Amino acid sequence: MASAADRELYDEASNIATRAYAPYSRFLVGAAVRARNGRVFLGVNVENAAYPLGICAEKSALAAAITAGCGHGELEAIAITASPCGGCRQWLHELRLERVVYARAGGKVVVATPADLLPDTFEL
Ligand code: THU
Repeated sequence: MASAADRELYDEASNIATRAYAPYSRFLVGAAVRARNGRVFLGVNVENAAYPLGICAEKSALAAAITAGCGHGELEAIAITASPCGGCRQWLHELRLERVVYARAGGKVVVATPADLLPDTFEL
């Protein structure tokens, strides 16, 4: 069950999804990351005519947070308007998010940990 703060973060992800650049799939995804200091960073999926070059919404938001100076372990929660893909699950693990609020395939919004989403992670 998402808390009021997590629902608010999900609303931010939902609002920004309209800015997604997804002319090929027409599948608009928004993501919002909240840092421990309260700052929120947004991201959308950005596609490319060379399909594999596209970037997921979660990666956009996480890259924005890192670029703004948020370090490892400083990101508390992320909300995503889709179920995160396998590669993004590894990103969520890498940056040690505490909670992932996301919409499952049927549209239900649920809360999970990165470990729930990717139990046996790659470590270097
Ligand atoms: N997409 C995301 O942005 N995040 C995910 O975790 C799943 C997939 C995007 C990538 C692509 O632009 C579109 O959704 C369809 O796959």
